[in-house]
Amino acid sequence: MNNSLKEKMEFTASRTEDILKAYFSSSEPERIGYKKIVDAQLYSLLAGGKRVRPFLVTEFARLFAKEGAEDCSAEASLPLAAAIEMIHTFSLIHDDLPCMDNDVLRRGKNTCHVEFDEATALLAGDALSIAAFEIIADSELSLPQIKRAVKVLSSAAGWKGMIAGQILDLKGETTRLSYEELHDLHLLKTGKLIECACALGCIAANVEENDQRYKDALSYASGIGLAFQITDDILDRTGSTKELGKTIGKDENSNKTTFLTYRTLEEARSDAKEITRSAVTAVNKYSGAEDLVEFAYYLTERKN
Ligand code: IPE
Ligand code: IPE
Ligand code: MG
Ligand code: MG
Ligand code: MG
Repeated sequence: MNNSLKEKMEFTASRTEDILKAYFSSSEPERIGYKKIVDAQLYSLLAGGKRVRPFLVTEFARLFAKEGAEDCSAEASLPLAAAIEMIHTFSLIHDDLPCMDNDVLRRGKNTCHVEFDEATALLAGDALSIAAFEIIADSELSLPQIKRAVKVLSSAAGWKGMIAGQILDLKGETTRLSYEELHDLHLLKTGKLIECACALGCIAANVEENDQRYKDALSYASGIGLAFQITDDILDRTGSTKELGKTIGKDENSNKTTFLTYRTLEEARSDAKEITRSAVTAVNKYSGAEDLVEFAYYLTERKN
């Protein structure tokens, strides 16, 4: 990974975390006695994580900013980066619950329901899914931008987006999904939030849906989203628990239909690379997109 990309990823991660901490800084919960729900949300939010979605938000905001306003645009997009990280973290807390994947390890730490309890984890996920929209509403973005951001985030995360993917994922434990169904599952479960991250960056830079730049951002996103979940399925088989920070072998043990149900490891790795190679062609015509290209390849080579 080049230094410019590494620095930008670290910068976005740390600024996003500042926003998340500031959002929860009120002393009211402690005074009234409900601080546990704040602790549980912050525990999962700040447990680590690659901050892939925040990076995509700020990087598209920077790429499509007016000339000379790149840093301003990236800065303005930070509440959207924090909001999507909240939604993503909510999806992970619920994904790990006993009624879903029943996982005990996440981001190298106890899962939220193990560290706290099941009811608190359920509520922490619920709370984060709502807080994301409060952060957007409180941002300095214009009202039309706020409206667009609420629309894309709610539809990407909700019942016709990520949650639809989770339903298909659970169905894939008891019935063997076809290759086509698995493709839909990946695009929904993981792809939708990745697409949404890129769309939020475009919104921060005031790029409209009918603009070719918006369409290019979405084609990049759908490719890297698919490759991202293929890599996640590979890492569940080949990763080390220590590096991955998650329990490995979960998919096989729960009999889930995954990419590796249909493809060998070698084929899956080469598919992820090929899909990525094609995805980056949507953006590499823009000057300043070098880090987005490198980021896409990093996602297929990651160890966690
Ligand atoms: C894990 O997402 C869940 C999937 C959608 C595959 P990430 O791999 O982005 O998890 P963190 O945020 O880095 O922990
Ligand atoms: C989860 O997919 C995707 C979400 C919507 C949270 P996985 O169940 O494969 O994610 P991991 O492997 O537990 O991170
Ligand atoms: Mg799952
Ligand atoms: Mg899981
Ligand atoms: Mg997985």
